[in-house]
Amino acid sequence: MSNYIYINDVGPRDGLQNQATVLNPESRIELIQRLIASGLPGIEICSFVNPKAVPAMSGAHDIVQAFRQTKNCDLSVLVPNMKGYELAKDAGAKTVTVVPSATETMNQKNINMSLAETIESVKEILKTAVNDKLNTRAYISVAWECPYEGKVDSEIIISIAEQLLEAGATELILADTIGATNPRDVSELFKKITRFVDTSILSAHFHDTRALGLANVVAAMNEGITKFDACIGGLGGCPFAPGAAGNLATEDLCSMLHQMGYETNIDLIKLLDAVAFVSSELKKEVGGRMTPWFKKNLQIA
Ligand code: COA
Ligand code: ZN
Repeated sequence: MSNYIYINDVGPRDGLQNQATVLNPESRIELIQRLIASGLPGIEICSFVNPKAVPAMSGAHDIVQAFRQTKNCDLSVLVPNMKGYELAKDAGAKTVTVVPSATETMNQKNINMSLAETIESVKEILKTAVNDKLNTRAYISVAWECPYEGKVDSEIIISIAEQLLEAGATELILADTIGATNPRDVSELFKKITRFVDTSILSAHFHDTRALGLANVVAAMNEGITKFDACIGGLGGCPFAPGAAGNLATEDLCSMLHQMGYETNIDLIKLLDAVAFVSSELKKEVGGRMTPWFKKNLQIA
């Protein structure tokens, strides 16, 4: 297993939540089907948020329902508050993801709660989910840098991590929400956190704003991290975090890992087929930094 890297694609959620073109649930369901067909082990399929705040995520109930028989792929849903959690559970979600941010302002802008309120709310959701026998993932957003408050102190991340784990989170994802960090700071934070937390439950979520997504992945891998979020086509960005450009593209990550001899279970050609699909649905060219190379060398359109 040491040669295996787990990739969770957040395209249907992080990728689509902030696009000019809103995809209807049928089209998002087809995208998720294509992502599953590529062999991805995990996909974040939607979020249960206020549709007035994020119109692109409406129809979450139908999306979860469409995949209730799916096996072999962990389909997670993002929940911002207890109301979202209840809606997700009622729809039949099996894995819920909570999304506290590490700073006061980011929580206010994103979910309209203070940092303390957010942590309390998230702990309650995690405890309820454990009781309801649902799997849980917990982001710590803006783990390195916040668009409103600048650099984030690693002690805050450690403290939030401990509270989330105590409340029952089974996976912790450190998120560079605006793509502001660099390989050295990635190493430093993971070095500190892995003194307290087992690498097997840690994951990283990088945005490629400054073209450092892949370099940051390698830095995290050097600290023992084997799970990563990425986003098909390099789409993405949070509507409430100014400056957040696209996520690290899943196809770039997958290709780099295969070049390095790692296994991902992903069929790159099928993944690129899903990129082509989302590109045509959004009516714009999407793709990671390797797109020109893929087009030249892999006989894809
Ligand atoms: N799903 C759907 N509707 C929700 C909801 C949820 N999880 N939580 C609250 N609402 C609804 C309420 O029912 C209420 O509806 P009404 O106006 O028809 O009465 C309205 O939203 C306001 O409720 P309130 O509890 O006051 O929430 P809020 O205004 O403080 O908003 C959030 C909180 C989290 C729901 C909202 O800010 C949101 O959805 N943000 C999106 C965050 C996001 O997706 N970020 C990107 C990913 S990290
Ligand atoms: Zn993100």
